[in-house]
Amino acid sequence: MNKSAADRKKRKVLIAPSLLSADFMSLAREIEATGEAGADLLHVDIMDGHFVPNMTIGPFIVEAIRKTTSLPLDVHLMIERPERYIDDFIGAGADFVSVHMEASVHLNRILNHIKEKGAKAGVALNPATPVSCLASAVYDLDFVLIMSVNPGFGGQAFIPHSLEKIKETKKLLALKNPSALIEVDGGVKPDNFRTLADCGADILVMGSAFYLSGDYKALVQNLRRGKKQALR
Ligand code: DX5
Ligand code: ZN
Repeated sequence: MNKSAADRKKRKVLIAPSLLSADFMSLAREIEATGEAGADLLHVDIMDGHFVPNMTIGPFIVEAIRKTTSLPLDVHLMIERPERYIDDFIGAGADFVSVHMEASVHLNRILNHIKEKGAKAGVALNPATPVSCLASAVYDLDFVLIMSVNPGFGGQAFIPHSLEKIKETKKLLALKNPSALIEVDGGVKPDNFRTLADCGADILVMGSAFYLSGDYKALVQNLRRGKKQALR
């Protein structure tokens, strides 16, 4: 067994389908099917029309989602001044909360606040934001979210230099905060899933490739077995 295969055996990579690409007219059924398929987390994208051009949902819908599933809710805040809404999203049932480095002035205060409220605190980095920005925040976070597309929309192509950022983040965390996790979001597909895991990703978000796959359960099984082909 080579080193990366052995490492992979020890480390379970978590699959986090992003609801953004689900059928919102059948949201309850989609969420139920996501849980039945064996996903580990449910990724929920919150967009405000300012930090990103798109708009999605608020705490009220997150609360409804919480009542529909026991999957941990991974709430990705693509909003300006996220500190205004953190209590609302955690109150609504968020288990993981990530804020963008680019949108957070008092990042240390925000991360500690998320943790005090009982959720896991994450820092998301846009594709153009270097890993070196984490030099001080690294001590306060529970996970880093590497955006591998520009945030705002599902179905975009993976930005290749994200692989280097994952490796760099892995090195930084190994030195400064070894229990922190790396999440990767954007353009994750069956054919790059294993490469991303081998670079150090612990949580892989999958939106369009998951919800357009046609068979969520078979997709999750194939991802866990290391198969590369998309379904449909
Ligand atoms: C994009 C969102 C993602 C999105 C990923 O801004 O943060 O979570 O749903 O979608 P795919 O997997 O289709 O790139
Ligand atoms: Zn996201």
